[in-house]
Amino acid sequence: MRHFNVVVLGAGGVGKSALTVRFVQDVFLENYDPTIEEAYRRILDIDGVKTSLEVLDTAGAEQFTALKELYIKSGQGFVLVFSLTQEASLRELDNLRQQIHRVKGMDSDVPIVVVGTKLDLVTEREVARSTIQCLVALWKIPFYETSAKRDWHINDVFQELVKQMLIR
Ligand code: GTP
Ligand code: MG
Repeated sequence: MRHFNVVVLGAGGVGKSALTVRFVQDVFLENYDPTIEEAYRRILDIDGVKTSLEVLDTAGAEQFTALKELYIKSGQGFVLVFSLTQEASLRELDNLRQQIHRVKGMDSDVPIVVVGTKLDLVTEREVARSTIQCLVALWKIPFYETSAKRDWHINDVFQELVKQMLIR
C-alpha cells in the first residue's frame, strides 16, 4: 500500500480542523478550538486501490508560521483551505501556493487541491464562485466547495489529491 503525507494549510478559523476531522472520524467539530498541530491517519479506498494517508492539520494562527516551511518539506500533497464566508482568507492562499512552489522547487508539479469551506452558511457567503474559478483556472488547481457540517464533498477533496499523488 502506498503512503502519503498530506498537509492542510490556510488561515485561522477557516475550518481546517473541521474538514480534517470530518474526513478522518466522520464527526463535525462544532466548537472552535484553535489548533497547534494535529496528525491523523486514514486509509482511503479508491476503486479498490487502498492508500494510507497521514493528514497533518496545522495552525492558522500567525505565531506558528515558522513551522510552515517544515510542513511543506514533509508534505507530498496539500489542501489549501479558505472560508467561503471570509474574503480575506482567499487572499491568503496565493501566498501559501507561492511558498509551496518556493520550497518544493519552482518547476515541480506539486499535488494541491483548493477548498472553500462552510458552503452551508449560505447567507454569510462572501466569495462568489466565479471569483474562485478565475483564480484556480489561472493556478491550474482543482477546487471544491465543501461543508464539514453537512458532510458535502469532503471525500472528493482527498480522493482528488490522492489521484494526483498516485500519478507522480
Ligand atoms: P485554526 O485551527 O485556528 O487554524 O482554525 P481551523 O481552520 O482549524 O478552524 P476550525 O475547523 O476549528 O473551525 C472554526 C469554526 O468554524 C468552528 O466553530 C467550526 O465548527 C466552524 N466550521 C468549520 N467548518 C464548518 C462548516 O462547514 N460549516 C459550518 N457551519 N461551520 C463550520
Ligand atoms: Mg484547526
